[in-house]
Amino acid sequence: MQINQTKTHDLIIIGAGLAGLSAALEVIEQDPNAKVAVISKVHPVRSHSGAAQGGINAAIRFDDSWQGHMYDTVKGSWFLADQDGVRVLCSEAKDAIARLDKYGAFFNRNNDGTIAQRAFGGQSRHRTCFVQDKTGHNLLHTLYEQALKHNIQIFWEWFVTSLIVESGQFKGVVAFDMMTGETVFYRAKAVILATGGAGRIYGQSSNALINTGDGMALAYRAGIPLKDFEFFQIHPTGLLNGILITEGARGEGGYLLNSEGERFMKNYAPNYMELAPRDFVARSIHLEIQQGRGVNNEYVHLDLRHLGEEKIKTRLPQIREIAMHFAGVDPVKEPIPIRPTVHYTMGGVDANVKTETLVAGVYAAGETACISVHGANRLGGNSLLDAVVFGIHAAENSLRFMKSNDLPDYDKKSVQAAENDLNALLNRTEGERAAPIRDAMEKTMIKGFSIFRNQKLMEEGLVNIRALKERYKKVIVEDKGSVYNLDLIRALELGNMLDLADVIAVGAIARKESRGAHFREDYTEMDNENFLKHTIVTRNGDGEPKLSYKPVVIEDIEPLKQIKY
Ligand code: SIN
Repeated sequence: MQINQTKTHDLIIIGAGLAGLSAALEVIEQDPNAKVAVISKVHPVRSHSGAAQGGINAAIRFDDSWQGHMYDTVKGSWFLADQDGVRVLCSEAKDAIARLDKYGAFFNRNNDGTIAQRAFGGQSRHRTCFVQDKTGHNLLHTLYEQALKHNIQIFWEWFVTSLIVESGQFKGVVAFDMMTGETVFYRAKAVILATGGAGRIYGQSSNALINTGDGMALAYRAGIPLKDFEFFQIHPTGLLNGILITEGARGEGGYLLNSEGERFMKNYAPNYMELAPRDFVARSIHLEIQQGRGVNNEYVHLDLRHLGEEKIKTRLPQIREIAMHFAGVDPVKEPIPIRPTVHYTMGGVDANVKTETLVAGVYAAGETACISVHGANRLGGNSLLDAVVFGIHAAENSLRFMKSNDLPDYDKKSVQAAENDLNALLNRTEGERAAPIRDAMEKTMIKGFSIFRNQKLMEEGLVNIRALKERYKKVIVEDKGSVYNLDLIRALELGNMLDLADVIAVGAIARKESRGAHFREDYTEMDNENFLKHTIVTRNGDGEPKLSYKPVVIEDIEPLKQIKY
């Protein structure tokens, strides 16, 4: 592949999900002349934001407050979230909902016309706004319509291979058109990374195949640190094939039952029951199965039958369809077999509350970023909110940056190096294909870095990941063509995921405590004295992860020593 074209923009946004499109719309609404381009490896409406089912949180009821939302979020995060970021997230939530409503989102309504809200895990109020059980889908389509209205330039099915950064300054990105192989250097003053999460590192999960952490890996390779990457959310309720069954099903009143028909959450979280935060519920389900109270020793039941046919059909129609198609059960008549499934990347590109990263001109938003507003465990319904609120902030801050900076000069050698890397992979003729390495990575991550972790399994996992990284150095791409070369794309994604798997392992091994999604059998307590701090991993000159820590921003919410629900 040869870079034979340079395109020039003020701002590049990588990713066309809720964060990327929110950012693009904000830029264009504030400055209709801004030269902004969105680059996405899929068509915008195939972005993974569309898979978020249950809703988006905001304190909009008369008996609620953003401070209450903030407290629940900070407690749910096991006090690891930065309180300046959570303050912004929760205090701006109401405006975010108003904006989506204005754009035309179809929020469910109460009889009096106000926006309906359902219960979600870890929340002390009903505060999750929703569009049936297709919230992300509706919001994504709504924003895409707005993007069309504003003629925002979107390059979809383009794959970004490198961020060009010289002496701590952003210069542009190299990307190729998946349909033709045309490779372009997109010069720009600034970039917003909004490529979503990395759940596919674990293989089967609620995540789309596209969720390979590309933005995180691009940043990491460009010298930008990743933060709290050991915290991976496991959603309590997936079908046996990993497909998500929304928390909204429990929010509407669904029960979790073990093989004895018992609502077992009373033994783990007696006050919140099925609506405890996700990490609690996922661990409880896992323990029920492990201790022999799983149905067929494999799953537990999510029972919605008592909600009645009308409610299931009107509030949870997609769940019904998914259960019927993929599990062969109609939730109106039978319980749904479920077990935990890998779901969300709490860690990400280290960014401050202004969405700025270590490199001038590089911003990050949504699941790609770790600002951090989710800490060790995200509350359901806060991810769509995070994407919208911080997508807007990334736009505002990058606009300011664009206005006060000229397009920087760049060294052709940096762009040439990106082209050489791509061709070194494409032209290699001897070695191993990507698929077996990927398979081994997924198995290693599930075994070592899943719901329950311990030193021995994690250390074995790290050794395996390092060995897989060595094997990857000789990976080959058999398809040498330029039209939809998925062989090449899968190999590039694998390289991204292996780098990130290494970062997960290094951070997890060093964190000798249990906090949120990082639960260790050998250190079962939360240890504020030694570990109330953010894990920072930077790539050193040899390509190895280098570990350091950074303090948590604590404002007026004092961390507790123990967490109960
Ligand atoms: C769900 O509906 O359970 C997923 C939405 C989220 O992760 O916030």
